[in-house]
Amino acid sequence: MKHVLSVASEAVPLVKTGGLADVVGALPEALAGQGWEMRVMIPAYRGVIDRLKKTKVVWRDPDLYGAPAELHLGKHGALEVMALHAPHLYDRAGGPYSDIRGDFGDNAERFAALCWAAAAVARDGAGDWRPDLLHAHDWQGALAPAYLRYAGSSLPTVMTIHNIAFQGRVGAEKMATLRLPREAFHREGYEFWGDISTLKAGLTTADAITTVSPRYAEELMRGEYGQGLEGVIAARAGVVMGILNGIDETVWNPQSDPDCIPFSASTLSAKSKNRKVLQSEFQLESKIDGPLVILVSRLTAQKGIDLLPAAVEELVAQGGALALLGSGDGWAEELVRGLAARFPGRVGVRIGYDEALSHRMFAGGDAVLVPSRFEPCGLTQLYGLRYGCLPIVAAVGGLVDTVIGASPATLSAQAATGVVFHPVDALALRQATRRLCDLHADRRTWTAMMKRAMKSELGWANSAARYAALYERLIAQ
Ligand code: ADP
Ligand code: GLC
Repeated sequence: MKHVLSVASEAVPLVKTGGLADVVGALPEALAGQGWEMRVMIPAYRGVIDRLKKTKVVWRDPDLYGAPAELHLGKHGALEVMALHAPHLYDRAGGPYSDIRGDFGDNAERFAALCWAAAAVARDGAGDWRPDLLHAHDWQGALAPAYLRYAGSSLPTVMTIHNIAFQGRVGAEKMATLRLPREAFHREGYEFWGDISTLKAGLTTADAITTVSPRYAEELMRGEYGQGLEGVIAARAGVVMGILNGIDETVWNPQSDPDCIPFSASTLSAKSKNRKVLQSEFQLESKIDGPLVILVSRLTAQKGIDLLPAAVEELVAQGGALALLGSGDGWAEELVRGLAARFPGRVGVRIGYDEALSHRMFAGGDAVLVPSRFEPCGLTQLYGLRYGCLPIVAAVGGLVDTVIGASPATLSAQAATGVVFHPVDALALRQATRRLCDLHADRRTWTAMMKRAMKSELGWANSAARYAALYERLIAQ
């Protein structure tokens, strides 16, 4: 077995705010089959260590950004976790990045500390464990490859971009606090418009850069999607690679999902029972002839929530309904509440975060709507495919790579698995919604699409093999 240290701010099932956690939590098991033992380093947020089994302290630092810290190695199921216990940074009420008052003011230090510890373990090992490679995720992990490089280490590193919208940008006055070398504060280093960008530090120092879908890798080299870092990524095009996310098929499996009435591609009648459950759970009318569309998402600008009125108006006009679960920005929560008030019995909204409810929604829904402005990979369309809840998605990022939009050509080739719309605006979404309703009314076509979707390859096998091949190549170099 070769060893890889993964460093990130979230990992399922210990802490999750989005898809990053799903991916970080699922990769170790996927890679185990490829001959790689992956340990995941995350901050020991309040309560994390209590949930680990067989813990032991494997590394200590008397002064990790202001106070002592310890690394607790432990297990959660099959997942091997290295939880960084540094109470001055992580033992707080609230989520991983914020509390009710907003983002923590010291997030830059909090995640720099995580990366400092990861770089130290990567270089010197912890206990009798020493990684062959370090794999960092997003801006929170991005200083780990940078610290290694700045200290002259040649340990191979991989930097994965899950979302370029978050760049770890802070004022240059934090340079010394973040233990960053002044010599690398320039355009080819971690300097970004006069500030520090921790993501840029990772992008300019890692041996390889991966994005969570091939399409997103291409998009990121263009001004429209690169959010100012397109030049940095294009300059390293030779080491950039898109590797599609998979889903955890043990958690997302309609045949064994404890949260729903089990069904499969050959027992689709049981799916209708889940639909009934969903209708009553969201207080929707008991007879809905059009598609019952679901949406499970963070409610932010990225997710195209401002486009919903167009989709809903068309959907309701065609006899369909919407069940929505999400939480996020105030304006977006207000917008979706407004839709529920405007279309009682046709639009049901639940503000909050509820994993079990999300499973029941995929099980009962006919279609899942993902109208994102940009989407590095997206996981809900994949869950939708697996549960025969056909995706209606914007033509961006990983959504393009995973859904085959219905057209005369893809339908006659028996390839279509959903509806894809472009450009990402209200008119195109309205037309796509109409198309979805027409397809849904054509029962034979719809059932064929459902069965095809449910059988598509969505697990980690292919992608894990690609990560493993990348790791092998880097350690051989
Ligand atoms: P992102 O990471 O940008 O939010 P993804 O589609 O990659 O988008 O991942 C989102 C993950 O979070 C999925 O697993 C989705 O089911 C889950 N999720 C988002 N909002 C909620 C919610 N309100 N309740 C339950 N699960 C949610
Ligand atoms: C990010 C992206 C999402 C992706 C997830 C996991 O949160 O917004 O598209 O699926 O990371 O890689």
